[in-house]
Amino acid sequence: MCGIVAYIGPKDATAFLLEGLQRLEYRGYDSAGIAVTGKTGGLKVCKTKGRVADLAAAVPARFKGATGIGHTRWATHGVPSDANAHPHLDNAERIAVVHNGIIENAEELRAKLSADGAVFRSETDTETLSHLIAAHLGEGTDLEDAVRSALKKVVGTYGIAVLDATQPDRIVVARNGSPIVLGLGEKEMFVASDVAALVRYTRQVVHLEDGELAVVKADGFRTFTEDARTVTRQPSTVDWEIDSYDTAGHEHYLHKEIHEQPASVERTLGGRLDERFSTAHLGGLNLDARELREIRRVKILGCGSAYYAGEMGAQLIEELARIPAHSEPASEFRYRNPVIEADTLYIAVSQSGETYDTLAAVQEIKRKGGRVLGVVNTVGSAIARECDGGIYLHAGPEISVASTKAFTSTVIAFALLALHFGRIHDLSPADGRRIVAGLKALPGQIREILAEEEKIAALAAEYAKHEGMMFIGRVRGFPVAREGAQKLKEISYVHAEAYPASELKHGPLALINPDLPTVALVPDDELLDKNLTTLGEIKARAGRVLAVAHREVDTKLADHTVVVPRSEPELDPLLLNIPLQLLAYYAAVALGRDVDKPRNLAKSVTVE
Ligand code: F6R
Repeated sequence: MCGIVAYIGPKDATAFLLEGLQRLEYRGYDSAGIAVTGKTGGLKVCKTKGRVADLAAAVPARFKGATGIGHTRWATHGVPSDANAHPHLDNAERIAVVHNGIIENAEELRAKLSADGAVFRSETDTETLSHLIAAHLGEGTDLEDAVRSALKKVVGTYGIAVLDATQPDRIVVARNGSPIVLGLGEKEMFVASDVAALVRYTRQVVHLEDGELAVVKADGFRTFTEDARTVTRQPSTVDWEIDSYDTAGHEHYLHKEIHEQPASVERTLGGRLDERFSTAHLGGLNLDARELREIRRVKILGCGSAYYAGEMGAQLIEELARIPAHSEPASEFRYRNPVIEADTLYIAVSQSGETYDTLAAVQEIKRKGGRVLGVVNTVGSAIARECDGGIYLHAGPEISVASTKAFTSTVIAFALLALHFGRIHDLSPADGRRIVAGLKALPGQIREILAEEEKIAALAAEYAKHEGMMFIGRVRGFPVAREGAQKLKEISYVHAEAYPASELKHGPLALINPDLPTVALVPDDELLDKNLTTLGEIKARAGRVLAVAHREVDTKLADHTVVVPRSEPELDPLLLNIPLQLLAYYAAVALGRDVDKPRNLAKSVTVE
């Protein structure tokens, strides 16, 4: 949510800033801006409402500088506009600041700074930072000291990069709740809020910790704390391939990420299945078998698709380990003063590892003495670091705003956890073997579904003509319906509602008519007859039905059927979900939507 980039070195900063911003655009895309300064000082600023491409078009030809900062925004304080776009300046136009996060005491700071003569030109909370830093710059004060003193007066979350027109040999950055990564080059340094902007230039990175600042110069950097204590940070190497951050010939990242699933599932499973004992090895749990046996309940927390993946996870844990498990939106949980129990295992789910509501839920549980595991994709992210242990997905970077491969890998991680848990409890070796074999078959089965792409694309174009769609599934199928509806509405803007199939006749059946088609999940499982009865009820009201079903199911009641291969019943939801990803993707394409950057949304919701 919002992206930051910065450069200092012998080259022209503008080119890197624009390229870097374009790579971070998935994090926010309602306005963008850059500021640069040359060796002789003086600030040049260009910012605009709209996309990074609009910014690139607006940047004058002679807009060059050796030091610069840039930002792509997802609006929180103030509408998307040229004035609200970052960077923000002080009165003298000496300080430029780009910021991710929220300054909670912005109103109070704004009142005080205004009384002291600061003239505000935007509605943003960020602008308080540029005036506040300027207010701490006395004669000869180093920028880093001014930033450090200013931040002591700030309450809130931030990742910031600061430029001073009179000290063009440095950029000062700081982190509190919003990521900042330094990229180490040859006599040049890069900064970004996400490694996606850096990998083209360097693999050597340093992640700042919360409460840390850094002064970044072309020939190196120094990290220190808010009380000026120097801290030593060793660089680490980014291990994702550069290709992971490109569309690699696909029209959209979303298309690429849907098609990557056979490989990303293999990575999530990699080295974790134990065929000898029919179980799973999960090295990062930090819980031994005895501790796991003492767990009486599992509570899973996540937001959006992560929450729905958690619902599938809860179902898997209850079925395979027979431990009561429940998934709840982290955003609700943290506000309801939850009871934290010693014998409950809490699990936080997040692709980005940055979602603020999920992070806050983890912190609340830990504050009350609870134990939290993370199921996280981004290594070293805030949520991963906050948890006591967990499972990394290894799904690879997910760039499209809508989650697909990370969703699937999350459910795989839960299947592994449920298997591990189950085999410690009462899951028989035979059932363990069944699940291990089922998991191993998944990549091939996903490939089979992806081969049906053309057929699903044609159906999507037809169904997208309707104003809304109903998604139904029973028990294991219900989270699939919820995720399918979520994917459709977020990228195609077609209204979609998910209901347990069993609940249809208790109300929403009233909506059924030829203009509101239903996507029905119909696995060949113990609830098949019930599902077929529901289809009959829809058909009796002239409703259209698109069934996602196993080959063995007689789908004569459906208008169209997409067939998925059968897995083990507990794992079927994973496969039933894949056609719904393609359905949403092709509906969005047919309607001409901006598939990877749907309106009003952004990847990584780092605000409340
Ligand atoms: C939906 C989607 C969002 C995220 C949610 C949580 O396609 O992408 O609903 O799942 O914002 O994000 P993470 O998993 O990064 O915590």
